[in-house]
Amino acid sequence: MDLKIAVLPGDGIGVEVVAAGMKVLDAAVKKSGHKVHAQYADVGWAAIDKHGSALPQATREICRANDAILFGAVGLPDRDVTLPQAQRPERVALLELRKGLFANLRHVVLPRGLASRCPLKPELISAGIDIMIIRELTGGLYYGQPQGIQGAAPNRAAVDTMAYSEAEVRRIIRVGFETARKRRKKLTSVDKANILATSQLWRETAVAMGKEYPDIKLDHMYVDNASMQLLRRPSDFDVIVTENTFGDILSDEASMLAGSIGLVPSACLGEKDARSGGPVPFYEPIHGSAPDIAGQNKANPVGTILTVAMMLTYTFGLLHEAEAITNATFGVLNEGKVLTGDLGGSASCSAVADAVISRL
Ligand code: IPM
Ligand code: MG
Repeated sequence: MDLKIAVLPGDGIGVEVVAAGMKVLDAAVKKSGHKVHAQYADVGWAAIDKHGSALPQATREICRANDAILFGAVGLPDRDVTLPQAQRPERVALLELRKGLFANLRHVVLPRGLASRCPLKPELISAGIDIMIIRELTGGLYYGQPQGIQGAAPNRAAVDTMAYSEAEVRRIIRVGFETARKRRKKLTSVDKANILATSQLWRETAVAMGKEYPDIKLDHMYVDNASMQLLRRPSDFDVIVTENTFGDILSDEASMLAGSIGLVPSACLGEKDARSGGPVPFYEPIHGSAPDIAGQNKANPVGTILTVAMMLTYTFGLLHEAEAITNATFGVLNEGKVLTGDLGGSASCSAVADAVISRL
């Protein structure tokens, strides 16, 4: 198989972690005779400096021409503030490339060998942590209209709109049920149905769909309670499905349970894949560009390496290769000898990639 991938390293540590991820990808698929065809493109400040736009036309075209996008990070806080919000890389590039990709899967796993990196007490995590958060990514507060600031200071007013159609809710909850079916068969639907109309629709839809999935244990949780239960009994969660903003917040909270945000991969998927005319699936580690450690070969590449494994699973269907990468990566983490600074080690980014490759 030819794996056609648009590779967008972007800003800060995006460059190093993507290089590490690509090296592992190459090594993993070569063994079974597959070939990676990577087309690199500029995005973020790296693109503004060269082409005057965070998402140049050439980059869009390269993305469109491939079956998956591997993305590092965009944004440099010191420079972002010099631009109006609507022109910042996260708006212009990130949200743009995610268009149409309504299902954002963020996988939080605490490696057995790194339990001491988890901020929770040992007795709370003895059963392990493995949570798949499914965040709705194309609706809710991010996109609802009207949105904006009106009037003149000091009497301005601002509005954001949380809006969901039943069809939007149904398709993301379906991803939740289907994902739970392949895992521990437990789905927690998170909403704020005691207050919000969108959440009432969400909950009614989830309850109705539960009848189609009698094998899945469905429960419902208000988002405030969910944020507490994640810290109180994280092992009880299997799959969480929730709307855009709740998922944004809960996934950052949950990433700390893994010991470092540098460990968490993600996939943004649409209804159809790129080969059947859908939007191009987008894969990224959930961390940002970390300019303070950029260019020093210090960043943790595990989030990106596990992201590459998600790409093999969801876009290319190379489950065996994906599993090989995941097992090799957790092997390295559990052994605890080759770890980056965020995990208390002193290994370089490239050394972690090499350690994973040597276990493949
Ligand atoms: C994320 C980020 C983005 C989001 C920002 C940078 C727009 O927080 O990927 O979680 O809110 O989706
Ligand atoms: Mg976020």
